[in-house]
Amino acid sequence: MSEFEPSILCFACNWCSYAAADIAGTSRIHYPPNVRLLRVMCSGMVDAEYVMKALEAGFDGVMVAGCHIGDCHYISGNIKAQEMVTRLKKLLHILGLEDERLMLKWIATSEGPIFAETIKEYVEQLKKLGPSPFRKELVT
Ligand code: FES
Repeated sequence: MSEFEPSILCFACNWCSYAAADIAGTSRIHYPPNVRLLRVMCSGMVDAEYVMKALEAGFDGVMVAGCHIGDCHYISGNIKAQEMVTRLKKLLHILGLEDERLMLKWIATSEGPIFAETIKEYVEQLKKLGPSPFRKELVT
């Protein structure tokens, strides 16, 4: 039997985390291919509904990655993202989903290695949790 491979959707801020993922790639820093990146202009534009739809679609984990506090190009978008994630984790708990299925991480442009390491750690964490109850085979 093959080992469970979690699928992750990462909403990545254009100005930092998406660029960090790009740097990780161009620097040939290996990280698991379990993640799909969805570029957004700011972590603050990630609505709770987008996260819920991703989980409902069968992703085992959703990551919101943005600029460090104080570095958001739209002043307070990352604070808004932080508040959304905090609220949504409580809702996930009520719904019977582990709150680890949603992750928030600040990753600057220069932090390609941190992006790669974060993905590696998240994949391992999700492997321990097991498949999402909403998991389906995702269309590639
Ligand atoms: Fe990156 Fe707002 S611009 S989190």
